[in-house]
Amino acid sequence: MNCREEIETLKKNKKALILAHNYQPPAIQDVADVVGDSLELAVAAKETEARIIVFCGVDFMAETAKILNPEKKVLIPVKDATCPLAAQLTPEMIIAARRKYPSAKVVLYINSTAECKAYADVICTSANAVKVVRSMPSREVIVGPDANLAAYIQDNIPEKCIIPLPATGNCYVHQMFSEDDIREARLRGGKIVCHPECRPEIQKMADLVASTGGMVRSAPDAGTWNVLTEKDMGYRLRTLYPDRIFYTREDAVCEDMKKISLEDLLASLKSEQYEIILPPGVMERARSAIEKMIEIGR
Ligand code: 13P
Ligand code: SF4
Repeated sequence: MNCREEIETLKKNKKALILAHNYQPPAIQDVADVVGDSLELAVAAKETEARIIVFCGVDFMAETAKILNPEKKVLIPVKDATCPLAAQLTPEMIIAARRKYPSAKVVLYINSTAECKAYADVICTSANAVKVVRSMPSREVIVGPDANLAAYIQDNIPEKCIIPLPATGNCYVHQMFSEDDIREARLRGGKIVCHPECRPEIQKMADLVASTGGMVRSAPDAGTWNVLTEKDMGYRLRTLYPDRIFYTREDAVCEDMKKISLEDLLASLKSEQYEIILPPGVMERARSAIEKMIEIGR
């Protein structure tokens, strides 16, 4: 049996579900049961009857799956797949911001640690951020840790006052897109679609701003697309729509998303490693914020 066949067999025998984010390497996307954006994967984790969830993505995604399924075994195939954006926010920063803006609600991006989520009123993803923030009863809303996503929300909800926390939080992969990428894409032709983690000026110049799941949903109407996000989103789109052309930047690589190999996934299923373990109190508080998001912004 080759590696992929062994994975398929173990998956069935152990009643495991393999979830993979749209930025995972092609070999992982090909073997996963569900490939999707952060929201779709959180919902799939919440609804599964599987005994084990193997999460191919970065740690905050696997933690979210665990928080929604405290009684299930949730595994991540490598220990050190993390999100540098999530690391830019700490609970202390949230506590200080709440003190400074006592009437503000706190909406945290799903790209945040479980400890931070425990201090949020509600969580959002790039797919539902506008809907979630619009539903907040306060005029002032603290949004973190991605300041570009905060700017996107502000642009869509001018009647609210969005306070980015920290003021300059960003993802190094999306921050690399510049006006040169827009100029090159315009010369090449086709539409430009970008993720809301791109800088505000890039969002303004793009034809569409969307989560990775939003890109999948909008692509049937697309001709040629210049896709300003992580490069393996291109693999996902080309697999789903093989007759379309999707241009991506080959150096737009999220290093942590590439840490999981097929061999790691196989080892994870075999030895049931590495299990996500979180303090029960943190899980309970974070769960209420995540479930609120699913209720509002599914
Ligand atoms: P999506 O929820 O749009 O998939 O985004 C997750 C992410 O980490 C983008 O960098
Ligand atoms: Fe985090 Fe950026 Fe990687 Fe998304 S692409 S997981 S935000 S580092």
